[in-house]
Amino acid sequence: TLPLVLALALGYALGSIPWGLVLTAAAGLGDIRRIGSGNIGATNVLRTGRKGLAAATLALDALKGAAAVWVAWRLWGRDAGLLAGAGAMLGHAFPVWLRFRGGKGVATAFGVLLTAAWWLGLAAAAVWLAVAFVTRISSAGALAAAAAAPAVALAFGDARLALMALALALFVTYRHAANIRRLLDGTEPRIGKGA
Ligand code: G3P
Repeated sequence: TLPLVLALALGYALGSIPWGLVLTAAAGLGDIRRIGSGNIGATNVLRTGRKGLAAATLALDALKGAAAVWVAWRLWGRDAGLLAGAGAMLGHAFPVWLRFRGGKGVATAFGVLLTAAWWLGLAAAAVWLAVAFVTRISSAGALAAAAAAPAVALAFGDARLALMALALALFVTYRHAANIRRLLDGTEPRIGKGA
């Protein structure tokens, strides 16, 4: 069990780096948690009008999830890799540095899925892109991708991966509670239309 505990801890440590907060602060934009939805993710960074910073946030938040899975998998095997991915999600959502108030885990989940199984990461990204393109709503894309991922993994016959994807999906959905409320109210902001 020691490798599994280490994998979880490694994942948490990597996941807890709040890239959106770090990059926007470094760019002199102030505290991202006071802008838009208050979230520390790429979608909210985009609301500052800085597309490059948003893209960098997406890439780095995905990369930390990918790195967690990759390193733990190499060191201790696949199960440890998947556990490190879960750790990265927990680190991103509950970073000790931000008094445990972190993000929603969409980009990080993408990095985790992509590294666990590239086809699953690409499938989830394709669903996100399609739904976000049609609705112009980032959270709608995220919720659709989360729902699709376990089904895709199951369709490919990988039960363990499907279970992991299901756990990620439930977690991401729960972190989107406020978004779901706004979606139902019809008040969720659209990409490119500000706050
Ligand atoms: O990645 C999070 C996204 O799905 C929603 O972000 O800022 O609109 O709550 P936000």
